[in-house]
Amino acid sequence: MSQDRAQTSPVRIDREQDGAFVVIDNPPVNATSLEVRAGLLDAVTTLGANNEIAAIVLIGAGKTFIAGADIREFGRPLRDPQVPELIAAIEQCGKPVIAAIAGPALGGGFEIALGCDARVATADAVVGLPEVTLGIIPGAGGTQRVPRLTGIVKAIELIASGRRLKAAEAKALGLLDEVVTGDLRAAATRHARALAGRKRRISELPVPAEPEEAIARATEEAMKGARGRTAVKEAIEAVRDATRMPFAEAAEKERATFQRLRQSEEAAALRYLFFAEREAVRVEGIGEAASRPIASVGVVGAGTMGAAIAVCFLDASLPVVLIERDPESLDRGVERVRSVYRRMVQSGRMAPHDMERRLAQLTPSLSVPALSGADLVIEAVFEDMGVKQGMFRELDRVMKQGAIIASNTSYLDIDVLAGVTGRPTDVLGLHFFSPANVMRLLEIVRGKATAPDVLATALGVARTIRKLPVVARVAEGFIGNRIFFAYRIQCELMLEEGAYPEDVDAAMTAFGLAMGPFAVNDLSGLDISWHTRKRLAATRDPKARYPVVLDRLCEMGRYGQKTGAGWYRYPEGARRCLTDPDVHALIDKSAAEKGIARHSFSAEQIQWRALATMVNEAALLLAEGIAARPSDVDLVLVNGYGFPAQKGGPLFWASRRPRNQVTAALDALAAATGHGFRRGNVEAVLDQVAQL
Ligand code: 3HC
Ligand code: NAI
Repeated sequence: MSQDRAQTSPVRIDREQDGAFVVIDNPPVNATSLEVRAGLLDAVTTLGANNEIAAIVLIGAGKTFIAGADIREFGRPLRDPQVPELIAAIEQCGKPVIAAIAGPALGGGFEIALGCDARVATADAVVGLPEVTLGIIPGAGGTQRVPRLTGIVKAIELIASGRRLKAAEAKALGLLDEVVTGDLRAAATRHARALAGRKRRISELPVPAEPEEAIARATEEAMKGARGRTAVKEAIEAVRDATRMPFAEAAEKERATFQRLRQSEEAAALRYLFFAEREAVRVEGIGEAASRPIASVGVVGAGTMGAAIAVCFLDASLPVVLIERDPESLDRGVERVRSVYRRMVQSGRMAPHDMERRLAQLTPSLSVPALSGADLVIEAVFEDMGVKQGMFRELDRVMKQGAIIASNTSYLDIDVLAGVTGRPTDVLGLHFFSPANVMRLLEIVRGKATAPDVLATALGVARTIRKLPVVARVAEGFIGNRIFFAYRIQCELMLEEGAYPEDVDAAMTAFGLAMGPFAVNDLSGLDISWHTRKRLAATRDPKARYPVVLDRLCEMGRYGQKTGAGWYRYPEGARRCLTDPDVHALIDKSAAEKGIARHSFSAEQIQWRALATMVNEAALLLAEGIAARPSDVDLVLVNGYGFPAQKGGPLFWASRRPRNQVTAALDALAAATGHGFRRGNVEAVLDQVAQL
């Protein structure tokens, strides 16, 4: 290596007797940027030709081996040398090359390790091929080398899910040769000596034989999670190629697929979301504020949400005091918590003693003063301002100084709640999504007075309980529910104009949403929307269009699945939505009463109308400062509302459509909505959406 290159390269060589450590030092995560690839290739080739060297060890400088390709390079043509060339050089090198893994070895990083003759790792190592989560497949032999170690069945499970493995599991599967407790460098050196100059190329191993039915079952199982994600299907095909063609041919085909998918809209969307998640925690106004310590938590209200929120904290090993208003409700709440764990134990996802350990941290109580020691309390009582204000006053009285009071309200004004306490700076919204122990999204609502360190603490809490935080300011419904509300009303207007619930739901699920708006409404309960509408009735513009069918359904006691009928019928507890002629008649009648001539809608028309509504509302939210950046809105819709991740969220999706088509859809939306429609500056927002 030339002197100049050695000084600037993120790869350096540490010589030790007859061995050499090739150290990758490319903070923050040792991604294989062009310079890393070039440095590694240079080092392996130079050391390979050096007669004084008996073995080579690849090792990361910091807490990471190699996190994989530099994802920022994926939107552009990749420059040589590329990772397969580097791996070929490792395999061709006449000396054993050992990967010494501490921390993450992911994607291309793990593929480099698989190209080595042995893999030695510390117990904190995490390995895996998460490429499908970025809309691509492994592109440097991962789909061919993993099955040679684990068999096709396991390889399909791992690669099609992108699951990351801890060192112990990876060792058990044969993906690692040794997990070391002591010094990694010393262990790698020992391993190198034991190889005594032998090469152990995985590419030369046979693929273990497995019954075709087992492979078919694994494929079917893996495809269940695919839901419209091309990369998953392609990854399975690539793994199966391991038995269909020789290594070199299959590896070349894998690379071609990787290159094709890398440039797809799906991959661009998933890359965008990857960086969006990391951007979301950069919150204006926090500065250097330090978090407050959170060692114990209280939850008030042990209903659907409160119980599941308690589970989130118990899972993170934090003690929880759970409060209810009467013994029966408390028992029901504790039973909700228990049943979450019981299901996990029954399905083998949790050991019985772990369930008991978690439940031992739960203190059920009927007394609000039991919260006096809590550092954070989350209120999840009924969605009623009076009830919540009463609770906030009481919490303010009993909670210690410096403790944080949060509300899980879906819509209500956090500033009004903060206003009834003597500590508005310590109040904020923590809006979980149902089921709270499963859904990743957490909207953090900062009130006018919320202190920077309270916000910093909330972001830390989100990390502790493994949630994805997105910060919003106070508005009716914050980011997600406000957009969802506008979207649902617009879907109801389409009913008046000619569509039926099943048409709208089918169009939106065909687009990729997990569920259509009317099926969601039936599941969550029409009465909740009805309460919100009644609450907002006084402030509604009487000249604006108002779809009445939902109110009529509620007046008939049709609250959705729980009452056996809503927008659809659910005879005898059925969960499948059955079309209901009575609802059609109600819709036709309401259109006739308003003098609306119904016309048919194509799925595409429905989708454009619905999506234009979402992006328009998003633009309004951004202009009002409720959401800080377009990618925050996309994160909320993808992680809280079933918007397909492979489409990146409504704003990303719209940013990739022809601009005149978006403008035309907004014009059509404005015309259809009529009086009171507020148009956001969508075009300006779409210009800000990052394209990677
Ligand atoms: N490329 C570019 N930047 C990356 C990166 C990558 N692969 N991985 C992480 N970063 C950046 C992040 O954007 C972040 O930057 P910021 O500080 O400016 O926001 C910084 O590194 C730290 O990342 P995290 O905040 O995520 O740090 P954590 O410590 O929480 O997690 C990690 C570290 C587990 C390595 C996590 O970052 C991660 O999972 N990274 C992605 C790994 C991955 O998907 N690799 C596969 C890439 S595809 C591939 O290799 C193709 C191959 O088959 C050819
Ligand atoms: P729920 O009706 O299932 O539970 C509310 C619980 O609060 C009941 O068990 C009730 O007994 C208890 N409660 C009422 N007053 C109380 C008091 N004074 N002291 C102690 N406990 C009291 O309601 P759910 O669905 O859990 O909603 C709770 C909050 O979470 C609401 O603000 C709601 O808007 C919000 N939310 C609900 C979501 C959902 O999907 N259900 C999603 C996100 C937020």
